[in-house]
Amino acid sequence: MARCFAGAKCELASVARSLAKQTRRSLDCNAAAAPIPFSSPIPSHHRSKLHLQSEAPCLLLQRGVAAGHFNRTSLGNLSSSGVKLGQSVEERKWNLVSASMQASVQTAAKVGARESGSVPLEKLVEVVTNAAKTGAAVVMDRVDKPRTVDFKGATDLVTDTDKATEEAILEVIKEAFPDHLVLGEEGGVSGGPNSDYLWCIDPLDGTTNFAHSYPCFAVSVAVLWKGRPIAGSVVEFAGGPFCWVTRTFSATAGGGAFCEGQRIHVSDTESVQRSLLVTGFGYEHDDAWATNIELFKHFTDVTRGVRRLGAAAVDLCHVALGLVDAYWEYRLKPWDVAAGVLIAEEAGALVTRMDGKDFTVFDRSVIASNGKIHPQLLDVIRPATQKLLDSGKFVDDLWFKPDGYQLK
Ligand code: IPD
Ligand code: CA
Ligand code: CA
Repeated sequence: MARCFAGAKCELASVARSLAKQTRRSLDCNAAAAPIPFSSPIPSHHRSKLHLQSEAPCLLLQRGVAAGHFNRTSLGNLSSSGVKLGQSVEERKWNLVSASMQASVQTAAKVGARESGSVPLEKLVEVVTNAAKTGAAVVMDRVDKPRTVDFKGATDLVTDTDKATEEAILEVIKEAFPDHLVLGEEGGVSGGPNSDYLWCIDPLDGTTNFAHSYPCFAVSVAVLWKGRPIAGSVVEFAGGPFCWVTRTFSATAGGGAFCEGQRIHVSDTESVQRSLLVTGFGYEHDDAWATNIELFKHFTDVTRGVRRLGAAAVDLCHVALGLVDAYWEYRLKPWDVAAGVLIAEEAGALVTRMDGKDFTVFDRSVIASNGKIHPQLLDVIRPATQKLLDSGKFVDDLWFKPDGYQLK
């Protein structure tokens, strides 16, 4: 184990050195460009032209490669800066040409469902929203009040609120869809074993924060059809003692992402050195955890900073909102990410596994970015993850998929 990890560190260091060289070149290039004013992340789509005029052509000229080319109509203005659009939107695929000197090509399938099955989408949206809001009401009622804390592991907390919230959410789902399959963090698998629909519930994501009244926790509910999220809602708790507030994120596959009813979009940041990132660390302090400590160190060195908030669903929604440019983490469970990845993707994020492969909510690693910096991040994250996989200490089979549940 020690040898494997030393190797991973070594590889990280060499990739870091090459990235640092590229970073210096890119900074030199940007120094000659027109100054880019600091801008608020909302609404990010208003910033896209500014960034493309000032930053992207500089990268294109110097490197002779296209930086972050998308084939999405929402980013159609890329074509006006000399970038060729790739495959059609209908193919629901993105092609990215790495901004790095290696010019690697990244292709990723969409995470969201392609069909909604026999239940009308509106009905699924109604129930997903109602379930998340019902759960959030339970949490709001209990925030800052005395709570009972139990331990699933040495530092893995669970409170009475986690359980009460899941029960309230289950009641809403089971009343509407008694034959659907459900996967709740606290209650496990229940409902119809033959259903194509699977509800994934994290009644309280960021339990440690909640237990300490530290802002940044959420209720997360999503419904999958044949293994892919079709609708999801995350209610984020922000503020803190004496001023708790919530904001609700929602998305449907192909229908866009919203926060408090307003359309949201990922950031336009084109380079890693201008980015603000967020990651997370699970409760198990294993090889994947140790690798991510190294990644955290590396990206803290070469970016504007890496945050660690402690709630995966919130992290993903912050990518969707453009507050941060990317998020990654190992060993998340389907309930942590099912709603958040859909919200991020529908806000324009690219979502893959940390080895760059296509992502499903049953995979053990995720990286969600604004798309533009994805290849640059993967240049470092992919080899570190491959090293973990090669060591056999981190497997890439699907986990927490209910027995017999069919993926499409
Ligand atoms: C945790 C949070 C945390 C992440 C952990 C998750 P929980 O969920 O999302 O940010 O780092 O991996 O388990 O236990 O608070 O629901
Ligand atoms: Ca969680
Ligand atoms: Ca939880």
